[in-house]
Amino acid sequence: MKTIFSGIQPSGNVTLGNYIGAMKQFIELQEEYNSYFCIVDQHAITVHQDPTELRKNIRKLAALYVAIGLDPEKATLFIQSEVPAHAQLGWMMQCVAYIGELERMTQFKDKSAGKESVTAGLLTYPPLMAADILLYNTDLVPVGEDQKQHLELTRDLAERFNKKYREILTVPEVKIPKVGARIMSLAEPTKKMSKSDPNQKSFISLLDTPKQLEKKIKSAVTDSEGIVKFDKENKPGVSNLLSIYSILGNKSIEELEAYYEGKGYGDFKGDLAEVVVNALEPIQTRYYDLIESDKLDIILDEGAERANRVAMKTLAKIENAMGLGRKKRR
Ligand code: TYM
Repeated sequence: MKTIFSGIQPSGNVTLGNYIGAMKQFIELQEEYNSYFCIVDQHAITVHQDPTELRKNIRKLAALYVAIGLDPEKATLFIQSEVPAHAQLGWMMQCVAYIGELERMTQFKDKSAGKESVTAGLLTYPPLMAADILLYNTDLVPVGEDQKQHLELTRDLAERFNKKYREILTVPEVKIPKVGARIMSLAEPTKKMSKSDPNQKSFISLLDTPKQLEKKIKSAVTDSEGIVKFDKENKPGVSNLLSIYSILGNKSIEELEAYYEGKGYGDFKGDLAEVVVNALEPIQTRYYDLIESDKLDIILDEGAERANRVAMKTLAKIENAMGLGRKKRR
């Protein structure tokens, strides 16, 4: 069985972008792959997090992983900081990576733009991400489009390591969905939908109430043309809403375009709001059952144990290859 690994930062509200770009793929893939889904809390602290909020967000994300349909019997669900091998291999990968290539990462450039000072962790974030992936001999990494560059770097680091030391790291492939790889902001449809956007109207949270969902979708920025047509360049707002509708409503873009021919944005948005509410309702019900339950702690304990077992083995192999410490026989 091949292995997949992916992670989400517990740095705020989990958005519809996270769900469509990444999580929806996880649900399908867990059936065919040996699967690891991580709550990457160590990545979240590359920018300041309020400690109480961070703890809450970790638990929320764990509950959402299960609520969207990840099955802890099939997939290993765990918290990054509960598996110390991530930080350990993260360091080794920093010693394989070059500063120049880290400075070229667009996410680093975006997040550091205009700031007087940023943490060193923001720069060395991609080697930690590489470590996450490489510890589990991952074959495939399902992510949204914005992570593509980080995946390319992960592949480069793995290949560089294999050449310099020994051929032990699996070089992973990236898996990006055909539709919905980049869900855009509802307020500024030329910008990615992001959980850290200060404008609450710009993103849909998986936990928004039906009223909030309706309000946000109705006020989503479109254009003055009044034609429901997919045209990313000239109609980014409508195209974004069409992508969301297509995926959550299980209809092709062409079908939707045909159905809404001659109808205005009012009808289109009203129906879309219903589709989104219906898609999120069962997730929210399961979420609220889980969030305070001991069951969630058992899932995370078991997940950390399983992940630690595999990660320790890979780490020992890597330390042996690099000559760190004394020879380990694991
Ligand atoms: P993060 O937490 O920003 O996002 C989690 C996942 O959601 C996807 N995503 C989107 N997809 C479509 N449209 C959007 N607007 C949108 N916003 C986010 C992301 O592409 C991602 O798949 N560095 C990663 C976390 C990470 C990771 C890993 C991922 C750490 N280690 C190892 C995979 C493997 C991140 O910041 O994702």
